Amino acid sequence: QKSGYKHYMLKEIFEEPSCVAATLSGRIKSAKVHLPEIEELQDLLASSKTLKVVACGTSSYAALSFKYFLENLSDVCVDVEVSSEFRYKRPNFDENTVLVAVSQSGETADTLESVRLAKSKGAKVLAITNVVGSTLMRESDHTLLLNAGPEISVAATKSYVTQLVLLYLLGLKIVELRDQWNERCTKLIDSLLRLPEVLDATLSRAEHIKEVALKYKDFQHFMYIGRGLGYPTALEGALKLKEISYIHATAYPAGELKHGPIALLGPEFPVFAIAPFDALYAKMKNNMIECKARKTKLVVLTSDDCEDVREIADDVLSVNSFSEQLYPVLMAPVIQLFAYYIADALGHDPDKPKNLAKSVTVE
Ligand code: F6R
Repeated sequence: QKSGYKHYMLKEIFEEPSCVAATLSGRIKSAKVHLPEIEELQDLLASSKTLKVVACGTSSYAALSFKYFLENLSDVCVDVEVSSEFRYKRPNFDENTVLVAVSQSGETADTLESVRLAKSKGAKVLAITNVVGSTLMRESDHTLLLNAGPEISVAATKSYVTQLVLLYLLGLKIVELRDQWNERCTKLIDSLLRLPEVLDATLSRAEHIKEVALKYKDFQHFMYIGRGLGYPTALEGALKLKEISYIHATAYPAGELKHGPIALLGPEFPVFAIAPFDALYAKMKNNMIECKARKTKLVVLTSDDCEDVREIADDVLSVNSFSEQLYPVLMAPVIQLFAYYIADALGHDPDKPKNLAKSVTVE
């Protein structure tokens, strides 16, 4: 039931505000994070130097955002690896390790094998999944559920947004357990609670996103760039675009441009910059100017408080000004809709991209 939407993907993007509300529900009490599911892990989470995280595809980009988020707020080192690499590497961890396995479906073969490897070494496994009773949930020691409801479209959308929110809650819990809570964390709790409403505001801009997307549908290539938390968002933007529109898209940390990728840029190779008005904006601006000097078309995804971006951008997409750390959540529907409208305009079915399955149950 697409409830009047042309595709499940579109419906699922528009469900994001209510899904985030469901993910948050009951998990914030007295301005602190309430996650009884992980009570038994508290001592380890409070003391471990390193937290390991495994995931694939979009889930791995949610995990990478978690790394930036938590390392910025605490002294824990978050080690993120794609499951297909983790499972074949020397397992250099022990029973004092917590492995967080992030998988919407809970059936991704490489993630399950990573969990089995970790458990065989005595590590404790915390699953982040959307599917009750999934193999991942059954085989893990503890589970945090996304509560996003079934995701039908092959492209992950609402599961990605809710993974971000749940991982941020986990991050804040870890900060509290390590006695590193400060005023910023209290503000983040407040912002998290406002997310459903602010996501609604992003979605109300869908028509403008569509107008901009359609201008770019005939390009063969796209380069996504970002810094800090903008980098995982760039990776996810490029993945969404390539998997449903079949346009070649690549993503780089903006500071890496000079180390090679900038050689590709020119009038036929547009750039999509993730550039909210945050602590790294000035650096992003320099990178964007360098791109424009190569005569590339430039789409900038920024925040409403950024005033000077219009001077350099060909097209500006924007979200409400908000807590810097939460821009990945607010910007997710924009990169998803941008990819969706292009795929649809090119006549592709975004719900069933060629060669892809919803759950990758084989290696
Ligand atoms: C992209 C996408 C995939 C999945 C990946 C992991 O839109 O859906 O990249 O994110 O296959 O799937 P899960 O999260 O089910 O383990």
